[in-house]
Amino acid sequence: MEKNIFNINNKSPMIGRENEVQIIMDHFSSALTSKGNTILISGEAGIGKTRLCNEFLRMISAINPIVLQGACDRSLMSPFGPFRRMIQNNTDVFLFGGAAQANRRTDDIIEYIFGLADEPSHALEATLFRFYDHISYLASKRPVIILVEDLHMADSGSIHLFHFIARNIAGTRALMIGTYRPEDTGRPDQVEGNTSFNECASSLLGDNTVTEIKMAQLPDLVTREIVAGILPGQVGADIMDPLVELGEGNPLFIIESIKWLTRTEQIVPTEGGRWEAKTSLAMIIPKTIYELVSNRLTELDRGSRDLLDLAAVIGQKFTYSLLAKALERPVIQIVEELEELEKKAQFVDFDGCSYGFVHERFRRVVYDEIAEEEKHRMHGKVGNCMVAMGVGPDDYARLSDHFLLAGMSHECIDYSVRAGTHFASRMEMIEALPFYQRALDLIDSPDLQKDQMCTSLEGAADALMVQERYPEAIVYYDRLLNSQPKEKVRARGLRKKAECSIPGRMENGSFEIFKELLNEALEIDEIEPFEIAEILSNKAGMETHLGHYGQASEFFQLSIDKFSEIEAWGRMAMEVAHYSDLLLTIGKTSEALAYLSDAVDHILKDEDPRNELEVRIVLGETLIHQGVYDEANVNLNLASRIAEKLGENGAAAWANYYLALMMDDLNELEEALFYAEKGRDQALKTQSQALMAVPFVVLAHCYARSGRLSDAEKLIDDAVIGLASYSETTPIAGMAHIVRGEVSFYRGNGQKMIEEYSAGIELFSNCYMELLHRALGEKWFASRLAMIGKTEKAREHFLKARGIYQNIDNPYELERIDRELNAL
Ligand SMILES: Nc1ncnc2c1ncn2[C@@H]1O[C@H](COP(=O)(O)OP(=O)(O)OP(=O)(O)O)[C@@H](O)[C@H]1O
Ligand SMILES: [Mg+2]
Repeated sequence: MEKNIFNINNKSPMIGRENEVQIIMDHFSSALTSKGNTILISGEAGIGKTRLCNEFLRMISAINPIVLQGACDRSLMSPFGPFRRMIQNNTDVFLFGGAAQANRRTDDIIEYIFGLADEPSHALEATLFRFYDHISYLASKRPVIILVEDLHMADSGSIHLFHFIARNIAGTRALMIGTYRPEDTGRPDQVEGNTSFNECASSLLGDNTVTEIKMAQLPDLVTREIVAGILPGQVGADIMDPLVELGEGNPLFIIESIKWLTRTEQIVPTEGGRWEAKTSLAMIIPKTIYELVSNRLTELDRGSRDLLDLAAVIGQKFTYSLLAKALERPVIQIVEELEELEKKAQFVDFDGCSYGFVHERFRRVVYDEIAEEEKHRMHGKVGNCMVAMGVGPDDYARLSDHFLLAGMSHECIDYSVRAGTHFASRMEMIEALPFYQRALDLIDSPDLQKDQMCTSLEGAADALMVQERYPEAIVYYDRLLNSQPKEKVRARGLRKKAECSIPGRMENGSFEIFKELLNEALEIDEIEPFEIAEILSNKAGMETHLGHYGQASEFFQLSIDKFSEIEAWGRMAMEVAHYSDLLLTIGKTSEALAYLSDAVDHILKDEDPRNELEVRIVLGETLIHQGVYDEANVNLNLASRIAEKLGENGAAAWANYYLALMMDDLNELEEALFYAEKGRDQALKTQSQALMAVPFVVLAHCYARSGRLSDAEKLIDDAVIGLASYSETTPIAGMAHIVRGEVSFYRGNGQKMIEEYSAGIELFSNCYMELLHRALGEKWFASRLAMIGKTEKAREHFLKARGIYQNIDNPYELERIDRELNAL
């Protein structure tokens, strides 16, 4: 009989899965009304995740959405791999659809979105924003579907991007779908257990930003339908029952079993249109995909087997040219052989661009069946051929793997260091670390391989430090410093080791050690200017922490000058934000404002949203101090928006706290409530009790002032729980008293009101950075005192508030208070 009579491809109908389809359709419908959202589909290999997505795409094809598809693939590990492929495969929409990119070429767009920023630490955020901006632009023209397959194999950059889109998709006409196999999220043959996926999945699901569809095994009835669909004619219980039982509701397994049974003629169609089993199937249906595939392998001839083996060594996807080169066969012959493998044996398929195994499980079986020695040889061969054919940075990781598995340590060290550096340049530290460690494990003559060793030691240490694994980082910095690195590297190592050594990062950390290390670095002649600036910045931070504001100011000014001198604008802006915090503490608001205005000009050049966020928040605060409320409003709103995009919920909560406080003080109660509630929602997402207290107090104040006294009290009780975790006095604790004072005022308990207000103000004056709260406290207290007829006391407190406003240069408030004083 003809072997290909069955319709085992995506054109055969999908059976069952009605609920899953419905969920996706519902989400898509709401995306069409600009309520974009994200779905995660999870389930074991072969359960039908890809099929479900394809079915959905087929059903909505009439709507003609923009469909951006990309699969993650360990063997093609490159930063943002699936997302880059989305652009490569959709050049038409990206070329003609992109906002300002109308006349760019694809490569330019990819470079623009995924290229390196001047400072590596910016690369990630810049990429997130740029890619997202493209998507939201496209979605303003046509509905967009983003499909990221096999997230369990994603690189950390892709995970970040997925997360970023998920957080920001709500206002767009886009639906994003991700698929993953839970059982494969930490496989040992991956570079490292994919922690960034696990973190992403749990925080996505915890946020309620995504809906998860967990695909279960198919019910028996559905399995029967699938079998009946594939085998035309009558299928008796002797065939159906064992298939259903052993198939365990996994369609891939069922389909592959049937293919094998028919090809080996264990079951055959009879004249009367019935399928007949030669033997008892329960005995022979292999129980695992592994057995199924390895059974099929034995049917291949030697030449095809060699080809397939080599393909499995290369990876899930492979090119003709590499196969041809490694096997020393003409390309045309390879093409024919692959077609043969596709049609007859159904091991591989062609997706329109390249060949790949029909299923990752197939590749693994083929690979596992190769003898160990052969594997070594083939990995070496593939590695060498790749090098001979020319490689780019995205190939380094794969080359490192090939040479490792080939036992060619010299080459492996080389490409491991390159791969580590490539990942680190994009801040993909989770990926970078194991490559540096691999190089270090293999280096056996430190004298000859000193450069590679120093690069790897520093790289590994940096990667650990970025992941806040300070004690481990210090071990590597020490090794670096002990291996006689170049002088400027030594300066860097000392500075970074110092940063790991502060109290709180190391158990026995101290500012003494910190200072010593920094000074040692400063004595090195060849130290680079950027290092000097970082050291000054570190000293400024330490002096601030110790309360030595005068010394801190000096260091801040020096570091800001140094960063400007070398045109590290983003870093300089960040430094200005920190210095301005200090200036606000000591009442030098005008100076802060001057520095910040300068920084704003520069961050617009620099494009790093994180710097902008820091600067805009402090700028907003400063402007409130000085009574420039409109501008404060603009800056804090901008900050809140950036923070939300970045998922910096804590920063967003603070920005909205200040907005609410300002509106509250201006008697714009409705707006104050709006911002306070927004801040509350953002703080709730952080799940940090301490952060939640911040917007709670201002919201409670608004409630009290709008007559919702018991709501206010309840909220303050909740806030106080969070406040317990602050070690220092905080203005928020003072605000809690102020709110209680307000509630007492409205309840007509003047004595209690005075007690609470006094306690609040007392707290403000004990914590630094709190001129604004002190001014507000004094002013509000004074007006309450006036209202209960305590005119003298009211005057006293108005004057105190006046003194503070004078100190921080707020002409607007001075006028307001003078009016109040006159009216007394
Ligand atoms: N409900 C269904 N009805 C009919 N065929 C199905 C159904 N679900 C899946 N299949 C078929 O089963 C095979 C495996 O499905 P699919 O590739 O979608 O699995 P997957 O969950 O994406 O697996 P992986 O995790 O390995 O990517 C495919 O041939 C697919 O067409
Ligand atoms: Mg799939």
